[in-house]
Amino acid sequence: MVVLRLCNSVPLLVCIVVSMEVCTRQSDAFVPSSFRHRHGGVAARRRQEQDQRQRQRQQQQPWELYGGERQDSDGRTAANATQQQQQQSSGGNGPFEAHGPGEAIRRLGGSTGPTVWTEFGRIAQEHDPVNLGQGFPDWLPPKFAVDSLVEAVLDSAQSPHQYTRPAGHPNLVSQLARRYSTHLRKTIRPMEEVAVTVGASQALYLSLQTLVRPGDEVVLFEPFFDLYVNQVKLAGGKPVFVPLRFDPYDDEDENDGGSESGASRGGEWKLDRDELEKAVSPRTRAIILNSPHNPTGKVFSRAEMEVVAGSLDLAGPDCVVLSDEVYKYIVHAPPKETNPGDSPLCEGHTHFASLPGMWDRTITISSAGKTFSATGWQVGWCIGPERLLSPIHRLLPYVQFCASTVIQEALSRSLERADQPYEGHASYYDYLKAKYTRKRDLLVAALTDAGFAVPDYERTPGGGFFILARAGKDILGVVPEKYLFAENEAAPGGVARPDWALCQWMAEEVGLLCIPSSPFFSIDKVHEGVADSFIRVAFCKTDETIEAAAEALRKLRVPEAVAVE
Ligand SMILES: Cc1ncc(COP(=O)(O)O)c(C=O)c1O
Repeated sequence: MVVLRLCNSVPLLVCIVVSMEVCTRQSDAFVPSSFRHRHGGVAARRRQEQDQRQRQRQQQQPWELYGGERQDSDGRTAANATQQQQQQSSGGNGPFEAHGPGEAIRRLGGSTGPTVWTEFGRIAQEHDPVNLGQGFPDWLPPKFAVDSLVEAVLDSAQSPHQYTRPAGHPNLVSQLARRYSTHLRKTIRPMEEVAVTVGASQALYLSLQTLVRPGDEVVLFEPFFDLYVNQVKLAGGKPVFVPLRFDPYDDEDENDGGSESGASRGGEWKLDRDELEKAVSPRTRAIILNSPHNPTGKVFSRAEMEVVAGSLDLAGPDCVVLSDEVYKYIVHAPPKETNPGDSPLCEGHTHFASLPGMWDRTITISSAGKTFSATGWQVGWCIGPERLLSPIHRLLPYVQFCASTVIQEALSRSLERADQPYEGHASYYDYLKAKYTRKRDLLVAALTDAGFAVPDYERTPGGGFFILARAGKDILGVVPEKYLFAENEAAPGGVARPDWALCQWMAEEVGLLCIPSSPFFSIDKVHEGVADSFIRVAFCKTDETIEAAAEALRKLRVPEAVAVE
């Protein structure tokens, strides 16, 4: 059986280091000069040694593990990949004794080693920091959802303890069809245009499996939710990366260049039409759009979505947009302009499929986990035209007979109740948004006090529950040298660049765990240094946890408070 649950596994793929020397040299340009100066010793030596090792590897290896593909969102060194491959084909690696790995594992290029999640999981266990790392709430689902689950469990008349329809429990698909008919302002047929899956992860997986033929290209905006890359590869496709551009606010001081304070300024991530149009071609089979976005919190504007829709003209007629909308009920900073076409049920969120002509070109993907603070429920869905959904319906029974019936029933009951007034708000959705807005503000205050730059949500729309915070040289400059550019099998490219080193140091010595941003970028961008100053911080945590994080962050302002080498 195909391994379906891949969430939080960062791709550890073979790095095809065709121009590594160039990349590594380029990357110097992104390291602030004073930062290079401060870390000119051990770190610089490590970088030189790394360069040399990479040059040697380049001379020795053709790196054509997967169809000669050149680019990977790589979580590991080329050397590790080779070693693992050799182990696999020489019978040194468990189940791959005689014949080497099966097709799915082969497509991953042997990228099954340690990841950012395993590495930071280990650090969390060993050092017990305040954890703002992983994206799941640390509180119970709302009471009506728990009640719905208990009622479903005890409902012997409906017996939701047995198999249900593979494409989705009738009660749930009817609920979803009703809601999406309002969202998309068209009648959605529950049995033909809805498919229930095991989380949004499986909805993405099945969409890609039914669309992609070997060699097809799939466009991903980077930074990206790390699951996408390997899912594209598992389907035999080739990820093509389109960078979102970080655009600093121009009315704030930018001191990265070396002035006194060393602070950096905030900004927003923008879609670049030219970059997208360069990437889309008749080879493009799908574009994955994620709004609100993990890890930046970006909410794509309607204008940007129109650019994405327009780019389909450059692709063939079969090109489809996979619109991942798992955070759509958490738009904590809605865009100022309201779009008349948007759903009255989902303020601040534009459903891509509601754009003119896009229903027929879109599979909308979502799940219950983020909305109901129940990421373990693992019920997700695809909504789309029958021509795109029926292949998914056909595939589903061969993947599992059905997603958990009892959870589907609980979700269908929860959806009925979520529109009711809740805790002083007009609906549970309003309550959820207010709750996350408050938590966001707590975290923003803590991060800015500590010297990180964050988006200004008065002017930049935001959604989801992550902040991609930006560290300036004042913060990066106090990371002890032993962490910088240290070899680390789990880090992209096999070394701890500044974002990774900062997160590792903070988790081990400052008492706060955040996630480095490099695993959310392609390896080329990592080598360019684009991720160096960004870390992902989650605010789906109790106020106490965020306050404890703020306490830890205060130590960054007083370097003597932490061990600095
Ligand atoms: C952007 C995005 N899409 C999909 C998922 C996966 O959702 P699910 O847990 O429903 O599989 C996540 C989870 O973190 C996510 O951040």
